[in-house]
Order: sequence, then structure tokens, then C-alpha cells
Amino acid sequence: MIKLLSHLSHVAITSPDVEASVEFYTTHVGLTEVAREDGRVYLRCWGDYYAYSVVVVPGDEPSLETMAWRTSSAEALEEAARRLQAAGVDVEWFDGYRIGKALRFVGPWGHSMTLHWDVERHTAQPRTASIYPDRPEKRSTVAGAPRQLDHVTVATSDVDAFAKWYDDVLGFRTMARTVLDEAPVSVFSVLTTNEKSHDLGVVLDGSTRAGRVNHYAFWVDTREELLIAADVLMENGIPIEYGPSIHGIGEQNFLYYREPSTLRIELNTGGYRNYVPDWEPNTWKPSLGSNNFYRNGAMPMSMTESFPPADGPSATEEGVPEEIREALLNPYAVQGRG
Ligand SMILES: [Fe+2]
Repeated sequence: MIKLLSHLSHVAITSPDVEASVEFYTTHVGLTEVAREDGRVYLRCWGDYYAYSVVVVPGDEPSLETMAWRTSSAEALEEAARRLQAAGVDVEWFDGYRIGKALRFVGPWGHSMTLHWDVERHTAQPRTASIYPDRPEKRSTVAGAPRQLDHVTVATSDVDAFAKWYDDVLGFRTMARTVLDEAPVSVFSVLTTNEKSHDLGVVLDGSTRAGRVNHYAFWVDTREELLIAADVLMENGIPIEYGPSIHGIGEQNFLYYREPSTLRIELNTGGYRNYVPDWEPNTWKPSLGSNNFYRNGAMPMSMTESFPPADGPSATEEGVPEEIREALLNPYAVQGRG
């Protein structure tokens, strides 16, 4: 199969208070507002190569409207459409804002994904242009501001089946997964379209609500910037949900906090690079430190929340063994994620 996808290009998230979210992203995360259209606000990190990487969309509750990947070529976009249709998925073509011809589909577990090849590159204004040729614009003056969008982690009722489907249909590589110590239940997996450990994460969801998101993440260049970001967030009264620490799976430094909609965002840096085309996924156990490299930091219960909020757990159905039911309801309590 030709390489279909190249990298995560943007996420569109909903917020009940768009202005509060945008204010947070610009003031505390260090993003820049690019444009507004039809109530949607387009934002970017200083190092993003394209016009935008985050879209804040009006909505009743926090959620992931869509996650967008750029394909590897125009032909790859057409091939992706063929493969999706062969897999029985309806594909909708549309003209996307500053991304041109794009397709959108809803995957088997309810997640909207956008694919596009055309894209508008960022052009800095004289005031924001960098003195360095490789930079799309000047480094942000906000302490610890991310360079670029990094990954998105969604929630699903079947982690292994989800990973297999996205591998088979769209050519993701599954790098690793976490299986409970107590039972053969996969609670987390990392998938990638490039050399990073993941640009798509997936966590087990015990709710009845399809298409949920657990968090999305930005990249900072160094651990020092991640620590400075944590420091400045604390000084400005913004609670840190978890971290700074290091995930075992992927080996990234992490820091989690919430934006005003309550949606969880993450800062990430470090981790391995993997170029092996026929990689076989590794299996972690929570006891090996999949979530916490040092095996010394319990994850807060709040990290189990995905978005939009669940309207009720489905894992209490009869026939589900107690330990699996517990894991389904609370996969993070056993430090099963990254
Ligand atoms: Fe993450």
C-alpha cells in the first residue's frame, strides 16, 4: 500500500464558551488567532507550517468535531477514499477552509476524521516574521508556548479493533498497547503515521457514547519549556491535572491541564523516533510503568474523563467479569494510559 497519511494537521473542538476558550489559548497556551468565520475561530502555534492547527467551534459541550490528517499526496487522498469506501464507510467530499478539497468520514467508533492534501501554508506578517528561514514565524513570547500541534487521543469501546481498523484501512502503524495485568483487556494503544510514537492515541471507553476524545496535545521543543509552562500555569491559577512526568509508553514528557470548556489539553516533548516500516506493536502492562515511567505517580481519577461527558456507563451489563468491568469503567486507575 502506498503511504496514505503524513501527519495530524488540525483538530476542531467544540466549546460552550468560544470566547473564553480562545482567550485561554491565546493568553495561557501561546496560540495566535488567525481568522474567524461563521463563529469558528482558527488558531495556530508559532511553529505550525500551515494556516491553522486548532479550530474552536461553538457547541453545547466540549467535544472533538473532527481530527484532520494531511495525506502524502493528491493520489493518496484518492486512494484513501477508495479504501474507506471498500471498508463500507461513507465518504463526504467538501471544500475545507484553507485546506481545499477534503474528505470527511465517521469511523466505526464514531470519530470524525478529515483528510486533505491541498493546504494553505502560513505566511507571517512582517511584524511576526522570524529572522530564521526554517521558522514559519517568530517564537511566541508566551512562556512554554508549544511549537506545534502534536497528537490527539480518542476513546473507544474496543482498543485493539480500533487500532487494527485504522492500520488496515488507512495505513497507521500501531506502535504499542497496554494490556491490564489482571485481565486480557487492552486499555490503551498508540498509532502513528510517521516516526513519532503516536499522532493518534486510543483509550478504552466504558461509556455508551461513541466518538469521544480524551485529550489533544501540543509539542514543545524541550523539557525545560514544559517545566516553565507548568510553573507559569501554577502562578496564574490554572490547575495542572497530571504531570510533569514521563510516560513509559512512547517515553514522552507530559503535562495535562484543562481549557475553559473542561476539555483536556497536553504539552508533550521528548520520546523516541521509530522508522521501522514493518514494526510489530509492543505490549505493556500497567505494572511496567506504561503510564508513569518512574512507576511512582498515581494518576488522578479525573483523567478518566473523556469528552463529551458520558451519559452512562455500558460496562455494567451482565456477563462482564468484575475485574474487567472495573477496568472498563476506570482504565486509568491502573495507570494504563499514555
Ligand atoms: Fe497524549
